[in-house]
Amino acid sequence: MNNKELQIGIVGLGQRGYDLLKEVLLPQGVRIAAVCDCYADRRDQAAELVTKAGQAAPAKCERYEDMLSMDAIRAVVIASSWDTHIPYACEAMRAGKYAAMEVGGAYSVEDCWKLVRTYEETGCECMILENCCYGRDELMVLNMVRQGLFGEIVHCEGGYRHDLRDEVAYGRENRHYRFLNYRNRNCENYPTHELGPIANVLNLNRGNRMLSLVSVASRSAGLHDYLLREKGEAYDATNMTFAQGDVVTTIITCAHGETITMTLDTTLPRFYSRAFTVQGTRGMYMEDNHSIYLDSRDRKYDFSWREHWGNADGYRGDYEHPTWKRYLEGERRGGHGGMDWIEFEDFFAAVRDGAKVPLNVYDAASWMAITPLSEQSIAMGGMPAAIPDFTGGRWMKEAPWHPYLES
Ligand SMILES: NC(=O)c1ccc[n+]([C@@H]2O[C@H](COP(=O)([O-])OP(=O)(O)OC[C@H]3O[C@@H](n4cnc5c(N)ncnc54)[C@H](O)[C@@H]3O)[C@@H](O)[C@H]2O)c1
Repeated sequence: MNNKELQIGIVGLGQRGYDLLKEVLLPQGVRIAAVCDCYADRRDQAAELVTKAGQAAPAKCERYEDMLSMDAIRAVVIASSWDTHIPYACEAMRAGKYAAMEVGGAYSVEDCWKLVRTYEETGCECMILENCCYGRDELMVLNMVRQGLFGEIVHCEGGYRHDLRDEVAYGRENRHYRFLNYRNRNCENYPTHELGPIANVLNLNRGNRMLSLVSVASRSAGLHDYLLREKGEAYDATNMTFAQGDVVTTIITCAHGETITMTLDTTLPRFYSRAFTVQGTRGMYMEDNHSIYLDSRDRKYDFSWREHWGNADGYRGDYEHPTWKRYLEGERRGGHGGMDWIEFEDFFAAVRDGAKVPLNVYDAASWMAITPLSEQSIAMGGMPAAIPDFTGGRWMKEAPWHPYLES
C-alpha cells in the first residue's frame, strides 16, 4: 500500500487540524476520506482544502461516530480539544482503526488506564502525536546521549514556555477550549512537548520509568493584567478568576534516580522555549542558550563563557540524527520546521505496514497522567503523587526508543 491508497479521517479542524491538513497530510498524499468537526464552517473549509488539492470530496461528518463507521478509513487523526482525545482514541481502537492523537494532558488517571486497557483488549494501535520527539535538536541530543557523550544522564529539564495569553483570554470568541480549562483547573496542563524528548533520553517505559512527582503553582496574575491593558475594566473576563497559576513547576523522580524538572509558563510575557536540558556526568545540552558543554573539550570555568553559547550547531556534522539527515537530503516540507512532517511519515509508515506505532499508549498514558497528578499535588500544597506503572512491569524489558523508520 502506498500513501495514496491509505484512507484516513481527521477530527478537529481548528487551528491545528486545519494546518496539519494543509501542511502535512495532503502533501504526504494520504487520501482524506472524511473530515469531522462540530462546526459546519470548519468542515466546509477543510473539505474545500481537500478538493482543491485534487482529491475527491471527503465526507463531512458532524458526528465522530459517522466517520468511524466508514470501513475504508484505516486511521484517524484526532486534533480536537483535550477532553476528546482519550475517548476518541478508544472509540477508534474499538472500531479497528489506528488512532493518532494530538497532544495535551489527561483529565484523570482513570482515563489513562482506559486508553491502555482499550489497546490491550483490542490490539489496535494508538500513537500520541508528540512531534517534539522528532525535533532536530532533540534527536541530535538523543544521538549524542546514546553515543555516551554526556556520560550517565542524571537530570533533565524542559518546559512549555509559550505566551498564550491571547489564545487563552479570547477562547470564547475564538471557540477555543483553553479558556474554560484555565478558568477551572490548576495543573501542568501541557506536559508532553518537553516530556516526550526527555522520556527518550531517559528511556522511560523502556528500561526506566517515572515513579513520583511534586508540583507547585505560582499565583495567577498574567491574564488579569493582560486583559486590563487590552480590554479594560468593563470587559467581563478582566476580573474573572483564573484557577491556572501562571508558572507551574513539577519535579519528577525516576526509577534509576534521575530527576526531571518541568515548567508550564503560558500566561506571562516571554519568548517561546521548550527549555530542553540534558545533564550527565560528562557534559550537557541546554536549549535556552543553544549550547553543548563537554567535559573533554570545554574548560571548567571560563570568564568568556557567554561566547561559547550557541555552539550546538557545531555538532551537527558529527551527530545529526539519521532521521534528520534523511529529511534534509530530501524535499523539506511541513510544519514546525519539519518535525511534523517526519512524525507523520513515521506514523503512516507504521500504518501501511500494519506495525506497532513508535509512540504508543504506554507513552501516552504515562505522559498524560502528569496533568491530573500535578493537579492533585498542587491542591495538596506540593505533596508527592505516585505515577502508575501503566506497562505492568514490561518497561524493564523494552528496548530504547527510536523512530519507526529507523527500525
Ligand atoms: N503538536 C503540536 O505542535 C500542536 C500544536 C497546536 C495544537 N496542538 C493540539 O491540537 C489540538 C487542537 O488544538 P487547536 O489549537 O487546533 O484547538 P482548536 O480549538 O482551534 O480546534 C479544536 C477543534 O476541535 C473541534 N472539536 C472539539 N470537540 C469536538 C467533538 N466532540 N467533535 C468534533 N469536533 C470537535 C472544535 O470544534 C475545534 O474546531 C489540541 O489537542 C492541541 O493541544 C498540538
